[in-house]
Amino acid sequence: MGKANVIDGKAFAAGLRQRVGAGVAALAAEGGPKPGLATVLVGDDPASDVYVRSKGRMAAELGMASFDHRLPAATTEAELLELIARLNLDPAVHGILVQLPLPRHIDPAKVLLAIDPAKDVDGFHPSNVGRLGSVAPGGPLDFPVPCTPLGVSMLLQDVLGSLSGSDALVIGRSTLVGRPVAQLLLRADCTVTIAHSRTRDLPALSRRADIVVAAIGRPQFVRGDWIKPGATVIDVGINRVAAADGKSRLVGDVAFDEVAAVAGHVTPVPGGVGPMTVACLMYNTLQEARRAAGLPFVAV
Ligand code: GUN
Repeated sequence: MGKANVIDGKAFAAGLRQRVGAGVAALAAEGGPKPGLATVLVGDDPASDVYVRSKGRMAAELGMASFDHRLPAATTEAELLELIARLNLDPAVHGILVQLPLPRHIDPAKVLLAIDPAKDVDGFHPSNVGRLGSVAPGGPLDFPVPCTPLGVSMLLQDVLGSLSGSDALVIGRSTLVGRPVAQLLLRADCTVTIAHSRTRDLPALSRRADIVVAAIGRPQFVRGDWIKPGATVIDVGINRVAAADGKSRLVGDVAFDEVAAVAGHVTPVPGGVGPMTVACLMYNTLQEARRAAGLPFVAV
């Protein structure tokens, strides 16, 4: 078996960002608004800080306005809800992203429910979750779809073209990744299996799959002998593990070298799905700004 094609998520994301930037300029030329993204970070988790910073920087690079809200870890749920209510009413804000996880004293379900579904660029509001759950096969995604799942689906369609009739295995049932990925694959006419920690004989299920999406958060969990020759493997995991030199490195949920020897296509970590997430957030923000101006969604 030859070596798999390594899917260049970094390059695809750069192209998507470039098209979103062009969409921002086109919107301005039509007399439309400057898309505005508000990010909200409660507390000072260093990883979250890095994510939020990169979102703000990316928005500015694409010609969007970015509003960065930093709240202390001791912020009450009521104070956070008050900020969201203000952002919901602010006409300069088209997208609101509340960085997760939130401190333990704040109920994330209550916070996500408070975000205006038309500004919910994460696609986590129950109304948008429900729309994704009821979209027709091949139907329009004219509402915000969670960014990482959207990125996974864009990469798959770019690499494979039609996914129709493919056997797809999604490993992980999280509301942030596994479930929305499964919904998008179902919309693309895959036969979808969702596996989780109680699934029996996962390797056997995996060996049947044309497409495997790993989103479980366990380093190098998916092994080479789980993969059907020529299958496409998408690795959503980002795990920091100790390296031989005493430092740490990032690995995915897939044992990359083993899988790359068998698969047809595989995403690397880093440089696979990761860069797609932020690019899709920019895509969602552009689309919601268009919608606020009464303009239709555009494929970019
Ligand atoms: N934390 C980790 N990933 C995400 C994401 O996609 N959206 C939000 N809001 N928080 C996150």
